[in-house]
Amino acid sequence: MEKKPATLLYPLPVVLVTTADADGRPNIMTVAWTGVVCSEPPMLSVSIRPSRYSYGLLKASGEFVVNVPSADHLRQVDYCGMVTGAQVDKFAATGFTPVPASRVRPPLIAECPVNLECEVQQRIELGSHDLFVARIVACHVEDSCLNEKGRLDVARVRPFAYNGALSYWSVKEELGRYGFSQK
Ligand SMILES: Cc1cc2nc3c(=O)[nH]c(=O)nc-3n(C[C@H](O)[C@H](O)[C@H](O)COP(=O)(O)O)c2cc1C
Repeated sequence: MEKKPATLLYPLPVVLVTTADADGRPNIMTVAWTGVVCSEPPMLSVSIRPSRYSYGLLKASGEFVVNVPSADHLRQVDYCGMVTGAQVDKFAATGFTPVPASRVRPPLIAECPVNLECEVQQRIELGSHDLFVARIVACHVEDSCLNEKGRLDVARVRPFAYNGALSYWSVKEELGRYGFSQK
């Protein structure tokens, strides 16, 4: 059945974007409109509505951190997408621990197993959202989420997805290995 044009592209990762104001006061925002956009140099994008408190911080500083939560953090992730940092200190409210980043001013969230420090390269006004295209300038991975070869083991991160229809889903089962169709 043909339907009217809509953003029916699911599942999407859900991440926590940290930003900071000029005094270093940090904020956390939940973002699902995000994705990898380039391998060399490593780059990603986040799409943010100008009405978000984080938008002003991001636009002014040009820096943010993408923190990948695990399923254990579902409640905090939902919460950070429901309240605004203009009124609430979300670090205090969630109990998340801010840790200084190595290359940017916004902090990492210690409890998140993967943290990607980002510098904005371009901001593109699209309509409801602005797309921030950013270079990943530093990465942090919790030791327990690395395999024997030192590579990220997603199963140990236990990430989850946003599936439209206002629901969160786990990402559990491996279905195949990259390139298996050629063997
Ligand atoms: C699962 C989920 C995904 C979200 N994704 C986005 C997004 O990609 N872009 C956006 O502008 N807002 C998104 N939001 C809404 C913001 O997270 C929400 O408005 C938040 O309160 C903004 O925080 P701030 O005002 O402190 O920046 C999402 C919310 C949830 C719960």
